[in-house]
Amino acid sequence: EQINKGSFEHYMQKEIHEQPESLTTTMRGRLIRGGSSKGKNVLLGGLKDHLMSIRRSRRFLFIGCGTSYNAALAARPILEELSGIPVTMEIASDLLDRRGPVYREDTAVFVSQSGETADTLNALEYALDNGALCVGITNAVGSAIARKTHCGVHINAGCEIGVASTKAYTSQIVAMAMLALAIGGDTISNQARRDAIIDGLFDLPNKVREVLKLDQEMKDLAEQLVAEQSLLMFGRGYNYATALEGALKVKEVALMHTEGMLAGEMKHGPLALVDENLPIVVIATRDSCFSKQQSVIQQLHARKGRLIVMCNRGDAASVCPGEATRLIEVPQVEDCLQPVINIVPLQLLAYHLTVLRGYNVDQPRNLAKSVTTE
Ligand code: G6P
Repeated sequence: EQINKGSFEHYMQKEIHEQPESLTTTMRGRLIRGGSSKGKNVLLGGLKDHLMSIRRSRRFLFIGCGTSYNAALAARPILEELSGIPVTMEIASDLLDRRGPVYREDTAVFVSQSGETADTLNALEYALDNGALCVGITNAVGSAIARKTHCGVHINAGCEIGVASTKAYTSQIVAMAMLALAIGGDTISNQARRDAIIDGLFDLPNKVREVLKLDQEMKDLAEQLVAEQSLLMFGRGYNYATALEGALKVKEVALMHTEGMLAGEMKHGPLALVDENLPIVVIATRDSCFSKQQSVIQQLHARKGRLIVMCNRGDAASVCPGEATRLIEVPQVEDCLQPVINIVPLQLLAYHLTVLRGYNVDQPRNLAKSVTTE
């Protein structure tokens, strides 16, 4: 596969901008639009021999490192909602450090772009030894994790070259949303919800195309933030993962200290950091946590926090406590798919910050695309 940067200056930039296409290939042939005789549905060929056993599991373990862990975290709520089965999140190295309990009744889902990350691979060996049913969510066909798991889903995002993962992240979330639909029961009570998610998936590449138009706006924001020491990002619910992943992007490529935090924990410590100097991104797009995020914004504003609020278009008046608040307005999609949209401006912000700060975009210092040692 001959990969070049085309008209882009960096692979990371190219990979951010090709997300409408990579998401399309992730979904290709897997979504059924439904017609007069059959309903909308999802078909994941790589799971078909194990689907019944997966549905019978007592628990899911989502296991990964870095961006792949964050993608799993973004997909956790929808998997729990549609399957009714609890999902335990595990950073691969931490599961191994603890030798945490894994049972035969568990389905362990290994998420890895490269399929070769040593920590994730070792956690897979450990889960296999403990008799769990092991599922791989990988981008590299034929990789160790793809081969050693019992079954899996290829995310088909295409080759990713930038060390900071971007298009693989959004494709992983979509692959796991499809996994949730495939596992979750097709009952009358959840039919409307399932149909809305499937319609949302069909439309998602278009919505990503729209949010990519924020590129210049994110460059302007990067210019404002270029000399900052630190940045905080608060999210919750579906977008807790967005805060963690947005912060990971900024720290790994722009080399700026950035922390992603659960907004529900703000008052239990992080609030002490807030003053008129520290910039804070709050993700407040529409979902069941929206009113709680509105109150977080109020509390940060009351302490003179320098706010950058991400909200859905048209919601400015509901989230903007004062004139100094900077807004990032994104298109609205089905709540469980909103993390796919919301990460894009933060990827763009990380990219532009890196260029402005003069760091290596595609190969940040000290980092490797695939970490194959423990
Ligand atoms: C490295 C990369 C990260 C990546 C992580 C997991 O740390 O620098 O970008 O998220 O490994 O990689 P994987 O291939 O398992 O998704």
